[in-house]
Amino acid sequence: MRHEKVLVLDFGGQYNQLIARRVREQNVYCDLVPYTMSMKKIREYDPIGIIFTGGPNSVYEKDAPSVDPEIFRLGVPILGICYGCQLIAYMLGGEVAHAKTREYGKSDIHYSAESALFQNVTSQNICWMSHTDYVKEVPSGFKVTAKTATCPAAGFEDIERKIYGIQFHTEVHHTIEGEKILHNFLYNVCGATGDWTMANFVDEQVAVLRKKLSGKKVLCAMSGGVDSAVAATLIHRAIGENLTSVFVDHGLLRKGEAEEVVDVFRDRLGMNLIKADARERFLSRLAGVTDPEKKRKIIGDEFIKVFEAEAKKIGAVDFLVQGTIYPDVIESGKGASAVIKSHHNVGGLPSVVDFKEIIEPLRDLFKDEVRKVGEELGLPESVVQRQPFPGPGLAIRIMGEVTEEKLQTLRDADFIMREEIAKAGLNREIWQYFAVITSTSTVGVMGDARTYEPVIALRAVTSVDAMTADWARIPYDVLEKISNRIINEVAHANRIVYDITSKPPATIEWE
Ligand code: XMP
Repeated sequence: MRHEKVLVLDFGGQYNQLIARRVREQNVYCDLVPYTMSMKKIREYDPIGIIFTGGPNSVYEKDAPSVDPEIFRLGVPILGICYGCQLIAYMLGGEVAHAKTREYGKSDIHYSAESALFQNVTSQNICWMSHTDYVKEVPSGFKVTAKTATCPAAGFEDIERKIYGIQFHTEVHHTIEGEKILHNFLYNVCGATGDWTMANFVDEQVAVLRKKLSGKKVLCAMSGGVDSAVAATLIHRAIGENLTSVFVDHGLLRKGEAEEVVDVFRDRLGMNLIKADARERFLSRLAGVTDPEKKRKIIGDEFIKVFEAEAKKIGAVDFLVQGTIYPDVIESGKGASAVIKSHHNVGGLPSVVDFKEIIEPLRDLFKDEVRKVGEELGLPESVVQRQPFPGPGLAIRIMGEVTEEKLQTLRDADFIMREEIAKAGLNREIWQYFAVITSTSTVGVMGDARTYEPVIALRAVTSVDAMTADWARIPYDVLEKISNRIINEVAHANRIVYDITSKPPATIEWE
């Protein structure tokens, strides 16, 4: 069983989830919790180390986020990052100063080779800074361990009390060897052994789920997305045929996906999977509808109706599975965090299913961990690495009315784009890439004939969380190949454009 846990106290900075993910990447479990967690709760949690994150405040502000000074007497190693390090310096008697301007970006840094934190790290290095205040004087008992031109104490430590501070962001890739610094803190200072692996998680969870669910009936809504696929597979491994999964085929998935769900989960894994073919029903409800919000509403309502009909046939169950993941449950240091609820697509289900309890087997996992669990469970890469996909599916990638003809064109164009991006080896670095059918038709010539067809747009973005995104700099020759193939192979395609807008101001989807 897992014993090692690190507590990441969230002071509201933009990289906080990233810090937690980086800790877990080092095979150490951690939780991201608001900085207001009580000392009683912190003691009960029994962490092997505590990390203070960055945050937008200055320690001198009235009501600036702070901690109970008792935390420094716990004897548990502490690492303060950015605001976290300023807070340590300020609370323990050092001096924090305001700089005239904000320092943002890469900075040359010198690390002391003597510090446990910087073992095996190149001493003359590059780090990532994002701050205005800085630590001018370290508290007594502390030693400076890193310096930059602007920060006389970019790193400092008190090895007796096991308290460490760094002004820069180890969690950001621009800090060269940042992961080594975090590794050193976790393993050299906190004494971690690294028991958080997805193989361990699968073993533990299967045992826990088997105990909890044995002899019970469990129902899962399978969407074709990663989270529900992995959640269902995990539960299936624990209880086999007592799990029933319902897959509503609304006809709005990408090419080959509906078939793949049946092939992988029913035929290969032997899961008890019911496929409700509702393609006609969705298409006829969508006929003539052009407003994106109306489309979303119709699809959401229909989905629940179809699922309800299937659930009625199954009858009462003990548990309903939800694919909630960790970012959905994190309560940010600044209040409710504005992340996308990956499970909001099935949000209405609890009201139409006769069940006793909800079960969320992935609620401790970040998305990349969910994918790794999928790999551990032997799911194919095409399922595990699937891109984020909107619940209303291709309906919001067709501007205006959804018709079978447009769906066909979109599926084929989208498939070609996916194929070429994968061939170019770009599929892992691009967050989402897809085609869109616009509501503008333009003239083209094909052979001797004049054509008049809707413009097809290609959208590809890089992002870490879909809250902001940049358009992907796909090489011209890859774009050319995608465009040529779509024009040559897809019916009703005569003009292709590439979307070069970031989010904000644009959204990722076109709707
Ligand atoms: P936008 O278009 O708002 O999308 O920039 C942000 C991210 O959310 C995805 N998206 C959805 N995901 N259900 C989902 O699970 C939905 O209804 C939905 N709508 C948009 C979108 O693909 C992008 O990743």
